[in-house]
Amino acid sequence: MTQDQLKQAVAQAAVDHIRPHLDAKSIIGVGTGSTANFFIEALARHKMEFDGAVASSEATAQRLKVHGIPVYDLNGVDALEFYVDGADESDERLHLIKGGGAALTREKIVAAVARTFVCIADASKLVPVLGRFPLPVEVLPMARSHVARQLVKLGGDPVYREGVVTDNGNVILDVHNLEIVDPVDLEARINAIVGVVTNGLFAARPADLLLLGTADGVRTLTR
Ligand code: A5P
Repeated sequence: MTQDQLKQAVAQAAVDHIRPHLDAKSIIGVGTGSTANFFIEALARHKMEFDGAVASSEATAQRLKVHGIPVYDLNGVDALEFYVDGADESDERLHLIKGGGAALTREKIVAAVARTFVCIADASKLVPVLGRFPLPVEVLPMARSHVARQLVKLGGDPVYREGVVTDNGNVILDVHNLEIVDPVDLEARINAIVGVVTNGLFAARPADLLLLGTADGVRTLTR
């Protein structure tokens, strides 16, 4: 199976997982990236079974609208039963690295509101220890050099993602060469640096369910 077929399989598995819980009032949180895009395609086939979605990026909002799914502002939504999104890495405890697509801050906000975070990924994303994928950190532009110096003190090698401006008007530092043995602690320490908007560790609020696409079918991991 190709990586895209694995992503398609987990996207379909996520739709199958949430469908029994949907009704005409349901609003679904939708993530960003290639796996989330497959989820939008699969979800659109059932758009009459729920009310609409909250998007974790402008790109996802656009794609949802193209598929005829109404998009709501998160501020007008009281509760989200599900947030479905991909990841760049996951460990067995469902701590994640996200933000390869620079949407980490909005993703983290929507995930914080959702009761259940369903992560969908192909098997290559499951790792014993997080950190092989460079950790994205969203930073206010004027704080870029200051934050980079602090990240070096934490043992990382930050690299400015040239040419990328987030949906929130900020920049991204990708932190290389971290071996993240305590993701909850590192998430908090990086978020405490002045000028950081947020970082791509989803450890304080990990996924609740990981649907992992493997050659032998979709594996379900829970915390
Ligand atoms: C977007 O900012 C990211 O958090 C994505 O969820 C992550 O990069 C996974 O993307 P793919 O599904 O394209 O691998």
